[in-house]
Amino acid sequence: MSAAETLEKIAHEVSACTKCALHESRKKAVTGEGPADAEIMFIGEGPGFHENEQGRPFVGASGKFLDQLLAQAGLERSDVFIANVVKCRPPGNRDPQLDELQACGEYLSAQIEAINPSIIVTLGRFSMGRYMPGAKITSVHGQMQKIEERFIIPMYHPAAALHQPALRPSILADFAKLPEQLNEARAALGRQVVEKKKSTASQNFEKPQQLSLF
Ligand code: URA
Ligand code: SF4
Repeated sequence: MSAAETLEKIAHEVSACTKCALHESRKKAVTGEGPADAEIMFIGEGPGFHENEQGRPFVGASGKFLDQLLAQAGLERSDVFIANVVKCRPPGNRDPQLDELQACGEYLSAQIEAINPSIIVTLGRFSMGRYMPGAKITSVHGQMQKIEERFIIPMYHPAAALHQPALRPSILADFAKLPEQLNEARAALGRQVVEKKKSTASQNFEKPQQLSLF
């Protein structure tokens, strides 16, 4: 099965998943989106209000900011794969619970295996916790670490930077380092630059609806 087919199969399973309690209140599951051969994968926390409505990741205020951050790295959304640690919205945007993270983590692991990105950028503590349990984001943000067969870069969650303006310069600087880190990761992994194959590889990509919460 090709990576794109595997991702479609995962999306299909997720849309009907009842493995944890979060399925009870979801409107639309948010599996994630992006090219099946993305070199960089972003992993956020979970769908919020707008994501639950639209079934797409990062389409609310955090998403708008994420688009600006990607631009800071010379990237567009269609260049990267964006997913979350839980695919269904936690009611009232509460933190995802351990059993939910564990149940949903199987889908995320399958997505990572299919995409096989050179770099995973974790956004927020739940996503960082998969790779660096106990790490302090204030001391490790923006630093790339090789963990098993790929590189992990923990970053602040865009929502955190929206709510705490003092974090903004750090998150902007971390995103600005990404192109250089990608070159480093490619060299270390012996990977060639992947030619963009947007027309075939993009999963269902459309321009995000720009919604503002403010
Ligand atoms: N915040 C997240 O962590 N993920 C989303 O998809 C949207 C907001
Ligand atoms: Fe299934 Fe994940 Fe949704 Fe829980 S959050 S119901 S594990 S898709």
